Formats: sequence, structure tokens, C-alpha cells
Amino acid sequence: MLRSFMRLLPLFLLAWLFSLTAQAAPFEDSMAQRTQACTVCHGKDGRAGPDGYYPRLAGKPAGYLYNQLLNFRDGRRHYGLMAGLVAPLSDAYLLEIAQYFSALDVSYPAPVASTAPAQVLARGRTLALNGDASQKLPACTSCHGAALTGAAPHVPGLLGLPRDYLNAQLGAWQTRQRQAMAPDCMAHIAGQLSSADVSALAHWLSSQPVPAKAKPLAVLAPDSPALRCGKAAWPTPTASTGSTRAVPSTPSPIQGQPAALTTGAYLARVGNCMSCHTAQGGAPYAGGRGIDTPFGTVFAGNLTPDPNTGLGRWSADDFWRAMHEGRSRDGHLLYPAFPYTNFTQLSRTDADALFGFLKTLAPVSQANTPHALRWPYSTQTALAAWRALYFKPGAFQADSSRSAEWNRGAYLVRGLGHCSACHTPRNALGASQNSAELGGSMMPLQNWYAPSLRNPQEAGLNEANQAHRLTLLAGGVSVQGAVTGPMAEVVQNSTQHWSRQDLDAMAVFLKSVAASPSPSPQSAPQSARPSTPTSSSAAVTQGAKLYDKHCVQCHGAQGAGVGQAYPALAGNSAVTLRNTANLVQTVLYGGFAPATRDNPRPFGMPPYVLELKDQDTAALLTFIRQAWGNQAPAVTELEVNRARNLRP
Ligand code: HEC
Ligand code: HEC
Ligand code: HEC
Ligand code: HEC
Ligand code: HEC
Repeated sequence: MLRSFMRLLPLFLLAWLFSLTAQAAPFEDSMAQRTQACTVCHGKDGRAGPDGYYPRLAGKPAGYLYNQLLNFRDGRRHYGLMAGLVAPLSDAYLLEIAQYFSALDVSYPAPVASTAPAQVLARGRTLALNGDASQKLPACTSCHGAALTGAAPHVPGLLGLPRDYLNAQLGAWQTRQRQAMAPDCMAHIAGQLSSADVSALAHWLSSQPVPAKAKPLAVLAPDSPALRCGKAAWPTPTASTGSTRAVPSTPSPIQGQPAALTTGAYLARVGNCMSCHTAQGGAPYAGGRGIDTPFGTVFAGNLTPDPNTGLGRWSADDFWRAMHEGRSRDGHLLYPAFPYTNFTQLSRTDADALFGFLKTLAPVSQANTPHALRWPYSTQTALAAWRALYFKPGAFQADSSRSAEWNRGAYLVRGLGHCSACHTPRNALGASQNSAELGGSMMPLQNWYAPSLRNPQEAGLNEANQAHRLTLLAGGVSVQGAVTGPMAEVVQNSTQHWSRQDLDAMAVFLKSVAASPSPSPQSAPQSARPSTPTSSSAAVTQGAKLYDKHCVQCHGAQGAGVGQAYPALAGNSAVTLRNTANLVQTVLYGGFAPATRDNPRPFGMPPYVLELKDQDTAALLTFIRQAWGNQAPAVTELEVNRARNLRP
């Protein structure tokens, strides 16, 4: 009865009703709260998902869990949903997450009786406890501990794991789908196992009870062969914060506050050279990351001073020519996936400072991957033709009618900061359309929309929203929103390192390019709002119900969120953007805000792609776009479906 009554209610009344009925748990700032994006799959307290497909995390050695998080992030283990979640987190925070789950004490489920014949179980037991000398296979116990319960810091136990999981992991090592830190002991061991032996081990191990109060050994025996197996260097606590801080697994030369950076190191942050010139899990600036374009993939090369594979033999003039003219040392033309169409505005002094910084990096010998471009785009002739149309080396033209601050902002946004590389629409040949500078654009081949930096209702700056947008650029979150997707990487590697003066100068410039300021949707009076297609009341009721079930505990009954932990959805431009690509992505795939100096331990949003059908997702998103004073058109099932199919 209540339900049919509610269906008749207008939306705002409905939202109000929910605000009275929803019982959101009070917010407590805890690791359990911060890691809800993990426990939706891994079960409460990391006890494993109900069917065992999502592995247990509770009680496993912290070093082991930490290594796995780095493995997913750096591409040695593969599960897209997890890799996406952990990508913007710092090593220090991943270690804290690992330590949190490691310390949780949760009982194990009873073992599953095996249906395998006795001789299969006997074979599994022999391999586990004694190994097989004829195959030079050591006993699993030699590393995993006499009781097979593992050992700190980095060897996991083998009991209490489902048979399917054991089979899958040993199989993944055999096919190199799973790798551990080098030296990868398990790759060697799994490589020696026949498929019958893998199956025997999985049968026997999964049928053994976990001893009561089983814990990993506190330390590895001094003669344990597992000491030889790869492990990450743990981040070390620093005096300044009292907690652990980001220490990259590969040494990075550019730690510290912006003030402590040399001019060259600072400019490298502003230009975000590292993001493109670092491969997943690779050494910083050593190149190898592929930039996908509609014409194929272009790989950014090695910027370290290695003489054979990097910039070791380059002169300052060579470097200037690359940045200013888009030509390599030997004169060949470079692809504009390298944003020299922006960098051409760099001053010679700044280019020299940048080059000076790159020279101080530790040389890494790593040849670049050859580009994979389709003909005719792969030819220098095609590139020369493109450049004749769309590129002229130029210098930054200061506008003397504007303040020095405005000019600094323009130099940063148009030049080194290359905001237009994503925020300006491109034509069919991939050239930025200067007439629509910063007017918002879909990113090529990615289902992300870089919103307009001119329109304050999208991502443009005005007096009312500038504090919020600058907080986002400096720290990744504000009470009014969070950065997501490709922008999270820009904030993490670039804008969080900008000095206050440069952020302010950028704001002065961006406010001046903003189209005539229009009031934010929140402050707009009812009558002035554009009329929006309204959705059927059934869909709205459905969306409201789903919101109450899945979202209310974090984003609140009024969509007001909780401080900087959970962003507000009411009055959030990311929710009401005309282009819904980002909104759909965020809800399907979840994510953490980037770990930054201002916000080193971000909260996470769970992925819903496995749980919500397209139709439900559309109804839910339509609801949040039209509730609490938000006024935006409905989201269709088709838009959701497209996002699901576009993500690899
Ligand atoms: C969408 C479901 C999902 C979410 C969300 C998720 N995981 Fe996972 N996780 C998995 C699956 C599936 C595996 C096993 C993948 C495999 O077979 O290699 C896994 C494996 C792991 C492992 C390795 C376990 C082991 O014993 O080797 C760790 C550690 C882990 N996840 C931590 C996390 C953390 C921390 C988060 C939150 C930041 C998280 N996961 C979020 C599904 C998820
Ligand atoms: C030389 C030492 C060594 C020996 C011997 C060894 N392991 Fe391992 N094993 C490791 C290490 C180290 C890891 C952690 C790898 C990582 O960080 O991913 C591991 C991880 C595993 C995992 C992954 C567990 C999980 O939760 O995902 C399985 C399964 C496994 N070993 C099975 C075996 C079996 C079965 C044997 C015996 C046939 C064996 N291991 C022998 C060192 C060893
Ligand atoms: C958006 C991604 C991106 C960013 C940001 C970026 N680069 Fe590159 N860079 C590339 C790509 C891709 C290439 C390869 C172009 C080619 O080979 O045609 C490249 C090539 C270069 C080259 C020429 C190397 C050679 O062997 O010819 C230099 C020098 C360079 N980048 C320096 C920088 C510096 C310095 C920065 C930061 C100020 C930077 N890049 C930022 C993508 C990027
Ligand atoms: C466990 C808490 C939690 C739950 C449950 C949750 N979210 Fe979130 N949500 C977050 C956090 C944390 C962020 C910021 C990190 C990010 O943007 O990835 C966020 C971000 C968002 C954003 C992007 C906001 C922006 O400014 O870019 C949207 C939209 C969103 N959530 C919608 C939803 C919807 C719809 C649901 C229910 C299906 C939901 N959330 C459930 C925690 C949660
Ligand atoms: C690699 C592509 C890329 C580059 C480079 C880039 N952006 Fe973005 N930006 C995006 C995308 C995609 C979004 C939408 C996702 C989001 O809102 O977080 C975005 C969002 C934003 C937002 C809105 C954040 C919010 O949620 O309100 C602002 C402001 C912004 N960018 C400013 C800048 C500035 C200033 C620069 C240059 C210093 C820049 N961006 C460079 C891709 C990029």
C-alpha cells in the first residue's frame, strides 16, 4: 500500500520521505569505512566473498597483501576492477590497507571434503609436505611453513583457500597471467607441476582444516628458501607526519614539497612529463607507455640521461627543438600525441631548466617500444602534411592589456600545463579546434568527457565555485566533488604540486575565459531553471529505491555526502553534466579519489558493474540527476550499455 501511494508522489516529496525513513549509519572515520570499496567483493572484514570467488584478505601476512596490491596496480596480476581501484593510491596507503586487513582476526570456514580418489589426495599431500626429489620440486612446507600457514612478511598460507582459487592461481602462474615480484619463486615451482599435480595439490590443500588460532609465523626461519623470493621494499615512516608517506617502489627523484623542488623539477610536474613517459609499474621517466590515438598507438620514450636509449647524448638545443618544433634529435618529425602543440609556447629558459632536471635523473637503459600506427598515419609524409595544416612553432604571446598574473595563468594553461590537450575538442584529424578552446571534449578512444573549462556549470571557474575547483585541483576532493578517471592522474602527478601562486594565476585566467557567468544549479531559482525531460514515475521510484539500497549510507539521504570523505551529489556538476559518460563510468567502476598531500588516505566508491543491470543503473542515475534540486535530463539504458561495452 505504501508503495503504490509513493508512486503517486512527485519526486522531491519522495526524496524528502526517504530522508525521514532512511537509517544511514552514523559516520565514523575508520579503515573499515575507507575500504568499503574492497569489502563489497572481499566480504565483511575481508573474510572472502560468499562463494569463495573473491579471496579472503583477513589475517594474511601484510607484506604478502601489500605485494599483491602493487602487483595488481603495476600489471603483474590482472583483474581490471581491482587495478582501477588501486591505481590512484600511494604505496604508503596501500601498505596501510594491507596492514589493516592483515590484523583482522576472522574464523575460517570448515574445509570442504574432497571427492577426489585417495591416491590423488595422497599425491597432493606428498607434494605439499615432501615435494618430489625426482622433479627437483621442493616441499611446499619449505617456504609456506610446516603447518602451511605462511610466514611474515610475505609468504601466504595455503590452507583455507577454495580449490577453484588454488587451481586458478597455480594455472595463472603457469601461463604467466600471474607474476610475483622478481625473483618469482612460484613461477618456477608452478612451471614444474603437471596439470594432474596442480589438481592433486588443490584437492588436498582445500580439504585440510585450518588449525585453530592459525597465524602466519611471525618471521621466516633464517634458512627459509622463501627469503630469496621477491618482496617489495616497505615504505618507511617519516618524521614529518608521524605516519608512513609515499615512497615509490622504484626510486623517484622528485619527492617533497613544491618549494623544495628545483625549477626544472617543478616544471616537469607542471607539464606532467612523468605520466606519459612512465610505463605501468616501470621506472619513472624511462618511457614505454603507449598513448592510444584514433590512428594507432604512440609510445612515449625514455627521458632519463641514458646515452643509448634516453636523452644522454642530447644537447640543450636538441631538447629545445623537440619541445618547440616537435622534432627529434635526428630531425624526424614527432607525433602530436606528444603535446608539443602546447609546449611550443614554453620559454627557452624554462626548456633549459627542464632539460637540466632531466639530466639529474638516474639513467635507465630501456629502449622505447616501436609505435603501432596504421598506414598512412605511420609515415613522415602524412605527419608533415598534418603539421602544415595544424602546427606552427610559436612563442607565448603575452597580452599587455592583462595583469602579470593573468599572463602567467595563460602561459601555464595553454603551454606547459596543456589543459587543452584534453579539454579542447579535436577535429577528425586529431587537431585541437582553437575556436572552441577549452570548450569540453570527449577523450579520444576513452569514454571520458573532459568538461568545458569555459562553462561554470561544467568545469569552468567563477567566483562562486573557484574555491571548490581549486581545492579539487590541489587535493583531489572537496566537499562538493572528487576528481575521477584521467583527471585524477593529472591531479596526482601534476596540479597537486603546483604552487599556490600558479594555481591562483590559473584561476585568474580561467575565470576570464569563462562564458558569461551563469548561476550554479543550486542557487538558481525554481522558475529560472530550464525544463528537463521528466522521467516516468515508475522509473523514478525504482531509482530512488536503488539509491536507498546502494548509495544512501555514503552519499546521504539528501545527497549531501559526508565532508571530504563522501562527496555531495546534490549540486555536483559531475552529476548534472549534460554529457553522462563520466557519471556512468564512476558508478559502474567505482574508484578512489587520488592520494595527494592534502588527502593522503582517500575513501573509496565501490564498483556496481557486476550488481546493477543497465536499466537499473539508468533509473538510479536519472534519480540522482533530478533529486535534491538537481535538474538534468534522464540517463538512458543505452548510455549505460555503451559505457559497459567500451571499457576493456
Ligand atoms: C569487484 C570485486 C573486487 C573489488 C571491489 C576488490 N577486489 Fe580484490 N580481488 C578480487 C578478485 C576477483 C581477486 C582475485 C583475482 C585473481 O584471481 O587473481 C582479488 C584479489 C585481491 C588480493 C589478492 C589476494 C590473495 O590472497 O592473493 C588482494 C590483496 C585484494 N584483492 C585486495 C583488495 C583491496 C584492498 C580492494 C579495495 C581497494 C579490493 N581488493 C577490491 C575482486 C575484488
Ligand atoms: C621457494 C619458496 C616457495 C615454495 C617452495 C613454494 N612457494 Fe608458494 N609462494 C611463495 C611465495 C613467496 C608466494 C607469494 C607470491 C606472491 O607474492 O605473489 C607464494 C604464493 C603461493 C600461492 C598463492 C596464494 C594466494 O593466496 O594467492 C599459492 C597457491 C602457492 N604459493 C602454492 C604453492 C604450492 C602448492 C607449493 C608446493 C608445490 C609452493 N607454493 C611452494 C614461495 C614458495
Ligand atoms: C600526453 C602525453 C605526453 C606528455 C604529457 C609528455 N610527453 Fe613527451 N612524448 C610523448 C610521446 C607520445 C612522445 C613520442 C612522440 C614520437 O615519437 O613521435 C614523446 C616524445 C618526447 C620527446 C622526444 C623524444 C625523442 O626521442 O625524440 C621529448 C624530448 C619529450 N617527449 C619530452 C617531454 C617533456 C619534457 C614533457 C613534460 C614537459 C613531456 N614530454 C610530456 C607524450 C607525452
Ligand atoms: C562506500 C561509500 C560509497 C557508496 C556506497 C557509494 N559511493 Fe559514490 N562515492 C564515494 C566516494 C568515496 C567517492 C569519491 C571517489 C570517486 O569519485 O571515485 C564517490 C563518488 C561518487 C560520484 C562522483 C562524484 C564526483 O564529484 O565526481 C558519483 C556520481 C557517485 N559517487 C554516485 C554514487 C551512487 C549512484 C552510488 C550508489 C549506486 C554510490 N555513489 C555509492 C563513496 C561511495
Ligand atoms: C589527460 C586529460 C586531461 C588533462 C591533461 C586535463 N584534464 Fe581536466 N579533466 C579531464 C577529465 C576527463 C575530466 C572529467 C573527470 C572529472 O571531473 O574529474 C576533467 C575535469 C576537470 C575539472 C573538473 C573537476 C570537477 O569534477 O569539477 C577541472 C576544473 C579540470 N579538469 C581542470 C583542468 C586543468 C586546469 C588542466 C590543466 C592543468 C586539466 N584539467 C588538464 C581530463 C584532463
